[in-house]
Order: sequence, then C-alpha cells, then structure tokens
Amino acid sequence: MITEYIRLDRDDPDPEAIRRAGAVIRSGGLVAFPTETVYGLGGGALQAESSRRIYAAKGRPSDNPLIVHICSMEDLPAIVEDVPSFVPALAGAFWPGPLTMIMKKSELIPSETTGGLDTVAVRFPSHKTAMALIREAGGYVAAPSANRSGRPSTTTGEHCLEDLDGRIEMILDAGPVGIGLESTIVDLTRDVPEILRPGAVTEQMLREVIGNVSVDRTIYGEDDGRAPRAPGMKYRHYAPEGELLIVEGGHSEVRRYIRDALERDRAAGKKTGVICAEEHREDYPADSVKSAGSAEDETAVARSLFRFLRDFDREGVERIYSEAFSQDGIGQAVMNRLMKAAGHRIVKL
Ligand code: TXA
Ligand code: MG
Repeated sequence: MITEYIRLDRDDPDPEAIRRAGAVIRSGGLVAFPTETVYGLGGGALQAESSRRIYAAKGRPSDNPLIVHICSMEDLPAIVEDVPSFVPALAGAFWPGPLTMIMKKSELIPSETTGGLDTVAVRFPSHKTAMALIREAGGYVAAPSANRSGRPSTTTGEHCLEDLDGRIEMILDAGPVGIGLESTIVDLTRDVPEILRPGAVTEQMLREVIGNVSVDRTIYGEDDGRAPRAPGMKYRHYAPEGELLIVEGGHSEVRRYIRDALERDRAAGKKTGVICAEEHREDYPADSVKSAGSAEDETAVARSLFRFLRDFDREGVERIYSEAFSQDGIGQAVMNRLMKAAGHRIVKL
C-alpha cells in the first residue's frame, strides 16, 4: 500500500485535504493525524473491521482497547450507556483537551474497538486538525497512538512515517505536537474516579474539579506484581534499543555516578547517551547528550522525551542514562513514561 503524506498548516489546515482524509476513514481506511498530545492512528470507531486493521497496522495485541475520539459533546450519549455524573464538570474543565474518560459503552461501539471490554475510553481532543477530521469522518474516530507497538508514541508526522509507511492509507502532518505525552486516563466506572495513566491533566487538577480521585498505583513504577487496570499499561513500552537507566538523587551524586558509568562504557567500547536538564549538559561526556529546558521545566521534557528515545535508536546508542525529573505538574507523567522506557531500572542515590 502507498501511504499518502500530506503536510498541513497547524492553524489553518486545508479543508479539502481533511475532507479526503475523512472519506478514507469512512470507507474503512486508516489515517494518522495530529492531536495536542501525540499523533493518533485513526479508523472508524463504529466499524469492527477498522479496529481490526488498526491492531494489525500497529502490530498491537487486540485485547488492548482503543480510545474513541469525538468532536462534540452532543455525540457522547450515543456511545455510552449513561453519562456518569462527573462528566459535565470534567468536560467543562478539560474538554476539548488531554483527558480521556472511561465509561460503560453502548451497543453502538463494537467490542473490537474496546478490546472486548464493556467500557469505552472517550476523548475530545483540542487540536484543530483532529477536530476537523473527526467531524469529516462521521464523529467517532478510534485512535491509539500512531506508533508501532512497543515503540515510543509519535510526536511528528515523520515519526508516523517511520513506523507506519506502507501500512496505512494516509498521514496528516501538521508539525510537532504541543504536549508530547499521551492523555490522562480517568476511569469513571467506579465510585471514586481512578487515574489509570498520568498526563497533562494532573491528579491535582482533577481533584480541584471533582474532589476525591484515586490513582492506580501500578503507574508509578514500583512494580508490585499487580496488573495495571488500563490493559495497555502492562505491555512493554517505549523501550529504546539501548539499555536505559534512570539515576535519581542530589545533582553532584548523580553527576558522579553517570560520569563513572560513561567512563566504564567507553572502555567497553559502548556508544553512550544521556538525558539531562539543560543546565547539566556540559557535565556529561557522552556520545549523545539530550536536554530539553531547565530542571524546573517539566513541559519541555514532556514535549521532547519520545523524540529523544527515537533519536538514540537512530544513532545506535547502546547505554543511556537519564537524570530523574521533578514530579510536579506533567512531571509525574514524564517519570511514568521514563520508568516504562527503562523497564523500571532506577538507581536511587
Ligand atoms: O493522548 C492520547 O490518549 C492518544 C491520542 C492519539 O489521543 N491516544 C493514546 O491511545 O494514547 P493508546 O491506544 O496508545 O493508549 C490508550 C490506553 C491504553 O493503555 C489502553 O489500554 C487504555 O488506554 N484504555 C483504552 N480503553 C480502555 C478501557 N475501556 N478501560 C481501561 N483502559 C482503557
Ligand atoms: Mg500507545
């Protein structure tokens, strides 16, 4: 299959291109498209066959449910059994935006889309191209992140091409995304809403709107053998080909630890990489040093993390060390993704 690659203006996407992309999805095809979090791999959410094709294109296990994307609150009631009481407040505060809510699904959603579950994850993204595409595609677009299973989510059109060229009909490229990490997922099917995946909408922000929220403890790394409640969180994720280790502690200890490790790796002939805060760049004599913003700026790390992991693979880096980042704001999500990429390998000094 030839994958058509279309560049769009982020603020003023060509309506004709979006109409064509919408027609591709309506006729059962797949289109990678930008959202404010990461790129999505979109297919018709109400068509079982489209969901099957999404799993095949990603190489993803079909028990891992997809997120259904909508572009209007009016379209919500048809796909859920009833609208949970928390929805108006949460939607008022965070939709359109980087929040996914899990609810009981209606008959309209085929079980292929939800990986056999009787619940459905719903998101109303804020990206212009995403909203226009969902409308043109008929209002319901199933979209996981647009990466091959196991790889980092895609944050640019080029990354989508790298992973999905020849496997899908079309890629809409509107430049790099704004947030860089996938949406926060909150499960509304329980008495107390529970965060299943941290993202740009933080625990604190949710508490301010709906009071009590619980958190699936498996998402913060400490692997205690329990299965995470979002099926997708259990799979190996984001892991770069090189071995990644997170080093946490006071900066002078972290610096010493990583420098010693780099020296050993160099002696062993290994190609090395480091992820660190901007102000520590000069501290690390590695083959490839990646930094994004200062230690205080979690949003900059969030935006760049998946690109860094992909770049290390392209550069053939074999040993990677990352400083730990602040857990403030989106920092909690950054550390969650970093821990998964590291296979939970962390040294605490
Ligand atoms: O930001 C995002 O959410 C991006 C963009 C494209 O919208 N999408 C995304 O989709 O990250 P995906 O498929 O890569 O991750 C969806 C996660 C998976 O971990 C999946 O297991 C979980 O959501 N999930 C989906 N439906 C669920 C459900 N009904 N119950 C529990 N977890 C669910
Ligand atoms: Mg994903």
